[in-house]
Amino acid sequence: MVGGIGSFTTNARVLTPGSMYPYAPILFDYIRRSMPMDRPQTLTANEVYALSAYILNLNGLVPADAVMDANSMPKVQMPNRNAFMVDDRPDAKAVRCMTDCK
Ligand code: HEM
Repeated sequence: MVGGIGSFTTNARVLTPGSMYPYAPILFDYIRRSMPMDRPQTLTANEVYALSAYILNLNGLVPADAVMDANSMPKVQMPNRNAFMVDDRPDAKAVRCMTDCK
């Protein structure tokens, strides 16, 4: 969950929210939907913001007294923000489907 920042330019990538996520709200979204894994969606949004702030702080990305909410979280600059590439392979194109999908 902590560390690995900068490791994406090496062969020993360390996958953590701090090293990988391009945008901080992804952390909120991930925890909000799926964590804790044995009891997903039992935390309030405020608790999830607090946990997100804690994890971001452990990664050295926000100060210990940072307040996370829908306004402040998108403003956190994630180190891997500009390192993703657009996947333009024609055979890998995702097709949005909401009903009667293949
Ligand atoms: C409130 C407590 C928890 C928080 C805030 C939390 C947060 C997270 C986050 C942010 C990730 C993604 C890490 C990444 O992208 O590198 C993650 C992954 C994961 N967590 Fe949790 N977690 C919590 C509790 C738990 C518990 C109790 C379990 C097990 C019972 C668990 C099992 C896992 C597993 C297996 C993954 C990897 C899932 C995958 O890669 O598909 N977590 N967690």
